[in-house]
Amino acid sequence: MSPFRLYINIDHVATVRQARRTDEPDPVDAALRAERAGADGITAHLREDRRHMQDADIVALRERLTKPFNLELATSEDIVALACRLRPWQATLVPERREEVTTEGGLNLDRPAPIAPAIGRLADAGCRVSLFIDPEPAAIRAAHRLGVPAIELHTGRYAHTWRRDDAALRQLTDATALARDLGLDVHAGHGLTYDNVTPVAAIAGIEELNIGHSVVSRAVLVGIDRAVSEMAALVRAARVDPDLRHP
Ligand code: PXP
Repeated sequence: MSPFRLYINIDHVATVRQARRTDEPDPVDAALRAERAGADGITAHLREDRRHMQDADIVALRERLTKPFNLELATSEDIVALACRLRPWQATLVPERREEVTTEGGLNLDRPAPIAPAIGRLADAGCRVSLFIDPEPAAIRAAHRLGVPAIELHTGRYAHTWRRDDAALRQLTDATALARDLGLDVHAGHGLTYDNVTPVAAIAGIEELNIGHSVVSRAVLVGIDRAVSEMAALVRAARVDPDLRHP
């Protein structure tokens, strides 16, 4: 496909909102800001338990984004149906287990069902379909047999071990080379941070990174100065009693 792309996953903006079931922060607002700041696309995961993104968020993202939208989804009927109706630019199929904190491993492609029918429906709807898989030869070959144009390599093992050794980085490099040889486009993501992203971004053949938690975490920190000073200005301006005003 095209040159290297950074997609920003905004799920955890919605996690903060859902902590209060209110309307802020708005993940669509965050996504539009991310686009303006240089994201090449936006990623969101509509989980079966709706723990962060809600259906209405996905509809609004589809309507308002100006750059490619990558929807992550499992194969549950209602979510595949929503994706087919909304037709995001890209649909990345991921495994999902209710009890997990985050997507812990890649798809199991040992059996074609239920992945193959979901791929067919999403592709027929016009989505570019990608499969989130572990960086293992058997999974890559299985993805290739399923006829998708792209895979996303799970970088979780790398994220957990990169300080100790470079075995997981070598595994990602080899997996990328194999996938490229088979004609697959290669994406990568999960657990990438400001500290560990550079070697993965440097792997020849990877053309898309999906990064979420670390960027949202950093946004909370680098944005807190402005957020506090704006609130301080607001509440101090409201005080009519000069004794209670800040010096
Ligand atoms: N790619 C996929 C397929 C994911 O499921 C996730 C997590 O939602 C990510 C990338 C982003 O991972 P992180 O939030 O750790 O950057």
